[in-house]
Amino acid sequence: MAYYPCTKFQLPLLIFFVNLVIMTNASVFNPAINEIFINNISRSTPPLNVHCLSRDDDLGVHTLEPGDKYDFSFHENFLSTTHFYCKLKWGRNSSIFDVYYKKQSLCYYKFFKVTDLYCTWSVQDYAIYLALVKNPSPSDFKFAYTW
Ligand SMILES: *[C@@H]1O[C@H](CO)[C@@H](O)[C@H](O)[C@H]1NC(C)=O
Ligand SMILES: *[C@@H]1O[C@H](CO)[C@@H](O)[C@H](O)[C@H]1NC(C)=O
Repeated sequence: MAYYPCTKFQLPLLIFFVNLVIMTNASVFNPAINEIFINNISRSTPPLNVHCLSRDDDLGVHTLEPGDKYDFSFHENFLSTTHFYCKLKWGRNSSIFDVYYKKQSLCYYKFFKVTDLYCTWSVQDYAIYLALVKNPSPSDFKFAYTW
């Protein structure tokens, strides 16, 4: 005789929760995390290369001229283990850092994950600065990393 782990009532309940999880992951409760890179270096040679990766994705090398922007966005996975990091290279100078990893990156949710997050990295001659607002003004940028 077969033994069913779910009763007649538990199965619909389980389906309901599985749906809830799928929906939650898909849209309203899972806002976008936007990473924006701006080349604010004072000269065009050597070029600035930005290469971002996660465990699953290699976004390739992007070359930015002064004034150029490069951006990408993603959603955090259900277990909140989404981890993106970027390698910046400018001539002999390079820097590698996490652009999103839980609360361990400088780009993170201060409060609740309910709105889209905007992390704008301004790459400059001597350092990389970060602003955590949607349309940053120069005073929103804070020092993040040196080369
Ligand atoms: C960086 O470059 C952009 C695009 O040229 C410019 O709008 C912005 O004011 C610059 N920001 C800083 C902090 O120099
Ligand atoms: C790299 O950084 C040094 C200072 O740390 C700077 O003098 C140099 O011009 C930078 N740029 C390149 C392309 O190496």
